[in-house]
Amino acid sequence: MCGIVGYIGQKQVCPILINGLKRLEYRGYDSAGIAIVNGETSVYKKQGKVSELEKFISNKDLTGTIGMGHTRWATHGEPNDVNAHPHVSQNGYFTIIHNGIIENYARLKRKLETRDYVFKSETDTEVLANLIEFIYLKGKVSVELAVRLALTKVIGAYGIVVYCKNEPEQLVAARKGSPLVIGIGDDEYFIASDATPIVEHTKSVIYLNNDNVAILKRNELVIKTLDDIKLKPKIQKLNLEIGEIEKNGYEHFMLKEIFEQPKSILDTFRGRVAKDLTEIRLGGLYDVMDRLINARRIIIIGCGTSWHAGLVGEYLFEEYARIPVEVEYGSEFRYRNPVIYEDDVVIAISQSGETADTLAAISLAKENKALVLGICNVVGSSIPRETHAGVYTHAGPEIGVASTKAFTAQVTVLAMMAILISRKKKQITQEEYENLIKELVSIPDKIEQILKLNDEFKRIAGLYKDATNFLYLGRGYFFPVALEGALKLKEISYIHAEGYPAAEMKHGPIALIDEKMPVVVIATKDKSYEKIVSNIQEVKARKGIVIAVITEGDLVIKNMADHVLEVPKSKTALAALLAVVPLQLLSYHIAVMRGCNVDQPRNLAKSVTVE
Ligand code: G6P
Repeated sequence: MCGIVGYIGQKQVCPILINGLKRLEYRGYDSAGIAIVNGETSVYKKQGKVSELEKFISNKDLTGTIGMGHTRWATHGEPNDVNAHPHVSQNGYFTIIHNGIIENYARLKRKLETRDYVFKSETDTEVLANLIEFIYLKGKVSVELAVRLALTKVIGAYGIVVYCKNEPEQLVAARKGSPLVIGIGDDEYFIASDATPIVEHTKSVIYLNNDNVAILKRNELVIKTLDDIKLKPKIQKLNLEIGEIEKNGYEHFMLKEIFEQPKSILDTFRGRVAKDLTEIRLGGLYDVMDRLINARRIIIIGCGTSWHAGLVGEYLFEEYARIPVEVEYGSEFRYRNPVIYEDDVVIAISQSGETADTLAAISLAKENKALVLGICNVVGSSIPRETHAGVYTHAGPEIGVASTKAFTAQVTVLAMMAILISRKKKQITQEEYENLIKELVSIPDKIEQILKLNDEFKRIAGLYKDATNFLYLGRGYFFPVALEGALKLKEISYIHAEGYPAAEMKHGPIALIDEKMPVVVIATKDKSYEKIVSNIQEVKARKGIVIAVITEGDLVIKNMADHVLEVPKSKTALAALLAVVPLQLLSYHIAVMRGCNVDQPRNLAKSVTVE
């Protein structure tokens, strides 16, 4: 939620900020603003997307080599110009941008009001700006100390960048909960919520840890703890190319990311499958393998699409590793006093590695001494750093807010883990193991074949773009795929859609079916094929429209359904990786035809760093 970017150096800051904000816009796009220092501090902010801000500043003098920018996903106060960041403290000393939530802001605000502070916005961030100023003026302390003291009074999450006009040659940044990355250039420093605004300028970065404060000057960087202990930061090399975060000719990031799946899945198992296809090697799990194979139970935690991947994981681990699995939403798990045993293994799944609820669930699991593993996409993000071990998905940057390639990469990792544990526990023979590996490595080519049918998926999308409701049905491994298909549609096209286990249809959703209701049924050939055929009959008997995802060449369902989306044959355990692709494309085309902003759907953000 919210993207922040700052710069201090030799270059003109405005283009750095605006380009940075465009890259961070996936984190929120309710409003955007920048502050540029050139003697005076000029603040420009506008409701709406970064493009609105760009129009607004087009005739302004934007000279300056120090500045900060923010793109907002509103928490406190509606999206408007006043609530947009940066916020300036009452007496104009401090300018601040913030990602996160100050939970005790109301109490702090009341205290400041008794000290004659009057607030212009409804935000928690203005409270922080005024708190820093109050401490600075009253305590006659340095800017850095004022920031550190103010933060000790704050409960909540923050990634902040602060500028004070009295110490004009520096920016101060701090984080707790919300991510911050510092980029190191020549006599210049960048700071941002993630590396995407930085990668075109430098590949040397430092990931700030919780409770760290950074003091950035043009030729000096100091990092310390909130209680003033200087730290020796670890400089890392970014493994990210600029091309990976551009559209490369595609109309939308989402479409690009759907089409990238053959490559992203290959990147996920690259180097992890022996060349002769006899073995899976997950280096990140070597040290914890004994605990993993002896787990009493696996608890998978995630939010949104990552939770759906976790549900596929449940089927995989139970079928192959024969370990009982529970799949939990981070937000539910953290607040319901769950029973966690020391020999439980908790697997946190997250594309961004920054989801607040998933992170909180990890802390709880660690407190209870469970082994906690991460399956994350963003290298260096908080979850991989908070977990005991894990496996990166290596799907490359995912920028479209609706997750696509991250889902298939997560399922790929879960499949590799389940198959590997299964073999280690001797639940499958070497031959079965190798057959599964062969199947896994065939998936990218099979997805290539599905993508060739894009025009047909688009044609079907055109027929149902004006529907007001959709139902998605699947059984077994395809139940989570049905949930994911429904989520994709509602996220980006704003059509109400529900995913259901196909057999449960009889217990409620069947009442919704009429001749206007498209029902997407995942009906590829597996052990429940006959049952799903019956479910299709039940829909047809009530005049529903059936769009079926089928195994190619299946004439039985082809003759029964109104439309079919064909996918190649595959082993059931991995078929979720195929079945989801036509559903992603169906939602994509429907959303485009409805004129929706596919990459930045209303009210959503890619990375939910608040509760
Ligand atoms: C947001 C995004 C979803 C994502 C979910 C979990 O809601 O819009 O696409 O699935 O967060 O995010 P994570 O980064 O933890 O996978």
